Amino acid sequence: MEVLFTKEQIAERVLALGAQISTEYAGKSVVLIGILKGAAIFLADLARAITVDNTFDFVAVSSYGRARVSSGAVKLIKDIDNPIEGKHVILVEDILDTGLTLSYLRGLMVHHKPASLKIATCLDKPDRRVVPIEADYVAFKVPNRFVIGYGMDYAEVYRNLSDIRLFPEELAEL
Ligand code: IMP
Repeated sequence: MEVLFTKEQIAERVLALGAQISTEYAGKSVVLIGILKGAAIFLADLARAITVDNTFDFVAVSSYGRARVSSGAVKLIKDIDNPIEGKHVILVEDILDTGLTLSYLRGLMVHHKPASLKIATCLDKPDRRVVPIEADYVAFKVPNRFVIGYGMDYAEVYRNLSDIRLFPEELAEL
């Protein structure tokens, strides 16, 4: 499968995002909330690239419908473990695609009254957006193609690949 971003390119961008976040949150601590499962690997690398104190939490959502075609309904299946009231929170996602997942989660998190709430995403597919939402930190903007690797799956496979690859459209169940 064609490589879109090598592990070296990913590492470089993650380090740059970590440095930017560390500067912007200097003197503060940050709670990184990863969206399972896709963001786990990006969060693991980003957390280590951030030099200010940071803790992790994870949420899990299920979207109804098949992998590529979102029905628009998102359900929380695992909530945060620790309170985030008064904390500086960054939601960490693998791909910002239609925006439905992150706008749903952002709405939920706002209710917990964090001191601030931002979004970091490894990939951004702006062409696919159906709700207006933008990430504050983006490693790479990508065209509307299905990708796998670095946490991202096709039918739960390929998450462990170190680079990000294009999944052949003809094999994807659209
Ligand atoms: P959305 O922004 O609510 O449409 O959902 C984004 C989620 O869809 C991501 O967290 C991924 O789990 C999944 N997703 C979207 N595009 C891709 C892709 O190209 N490869 C793998 N998963 C994808």
